Amino acid sequence: MTNHLLLSAIITTIFFTGTATSAATYNVKKLGAKPDGKTDSTKPFTDAWSRACGSNKPATVYVPKGTFMVGGLRFSGPCKNSDVTVRIDGTLVAPENYFVLGKARYWLRFQHVHGVTIVGGTVDARGAGLWACKSSRSKNCPDGATSLAISNSNNVKVYGLTSVNSQMFHIVVNGCKNVRVVGVNVVAPADSPNTDGIHVQLSTGVTILDSKISTGDDCVSIGPGATDLWVENVACGPGHGISIGSLGKDYNEQGVKNVTVKRNAIMTNVENPILIDQNYCPGHKNCPNQVSGVRISNVKYQDVHGTSATKVAVRFDCSKKYPCKRITMQDVNLSFKNKVPASAYCVNAGGKTSGVMKPTSCF
Ligand SMILES: *[C@@H]1O[C@H](CO)[C@@H](O)[C@H](O)[C@H]1NC(C)=O
Ligand SMILES: *[C@@H]1O[C@H](CO)[C@@H](O)[C@H](O)[C@H]1NC(C)=O
Repeated sequence: MTNHLLLSAIITTIFFTGTATSAATYNVKKLGAKPDGKTDSTKPFTDAWSRACGSNKPATVYVPKGTFMVGGLRFSGPCKNSDVTVRIDGTLVAPENYFVLGKARYWLRFQHVHGVTIVGGTVDARGAGLWACKSSRSKNCPDGATSLAISNSNNVKVYGLTSVNSQMFHIVVNGCKNVRVVGVNVVAPADSPNTDGIHVQLSTGVTILDSKISTGDDCVSIGPGATDLWVENVACGPGHGISIGSLGKDYNEQGVKNVTVKRNAIMTNVENPILIDQNYCPGHKNCPNQVSGVRISNVKYQDVHGTSATKVAVRFDCSKKYPCKRITMQDVNLSFKNKVPASAYCVNAGGKTSGVMKPTSCF
């Protein structure tokens, strides 16, 4: 090693050691959390968050290896600094009794935060009990909780998180600006109800990259008011596809604009891999009926391939009042089971295609 390199190595060491000690770190275990998977560690987590969020300089909440049981956690801002990291080396599990979260709507909720990075970790909501309750058609099942919700926040990053067995949606981004979800892994059984992978609504500048989502419902679901959304290199299946949907159930919903799904969107045994549904009406009751106020424009699908679990692989069911406009499809190759070709279905939808287009376009 030359002197010059040696010197720069020393400087680098000093630099990193220096920043590691100057940024405050709050270790949940030191604050009383127990890595035994049983003891309720909600309070130590909340304490760690309050300290990190209340710090005047960049701060980290650190969750070491081990399994920590936590109930509903509220990571609320605004914080005193705009660089809070939640670094998870361990696993978070929900309370065994599904009613605890099931009535709370959210398990881990970040709200009003600006500049937060969530890195690593596994979150296991242990949804199986609630799914069984729902499939038994008992009237006493709670709705269930979203595992990770990011609401009314800006500049949030979620890196390398694994979410398994959510009671309801795994990750929800609502009312946010500039959120990056990268390298996440979402897993729930194909028959688990409403376990959508990532749901985005009322948010602008959300990017979802390099992720893998296997669930019982939508892989990525895009709701009212999602604009400038970018989805790249996301593998879906089993489950449903990338769905711009659940629109039309209220009269005054905001539009969906500028959505890009590109490069290496791999579908494996997915129901309706590409879906736009403006005429969504759960239970077919009290919906505006074909006059959804949601305008959908500038949606691009590029390099989407794999297998559809339904014959209709591409479905654009748009309203007469606000037809879906300027949909672009390039190099889409979706097949249905052995030798039966997949099909596309369009109502009030228009756009253009280029490159490979399987199924044949319905524009
Ligand atoms: C569309 O959204 C992307 C980010 O997803 C952004 O880079 C681009 O500028 C937007 N385009 C328009 C026309 O707003
Ligand atoms: C479409 O995908 C199938 C299955 O992966 C493949 O065999 C076929 O060559 C692809 N077609 C084109 C035109 O790329």
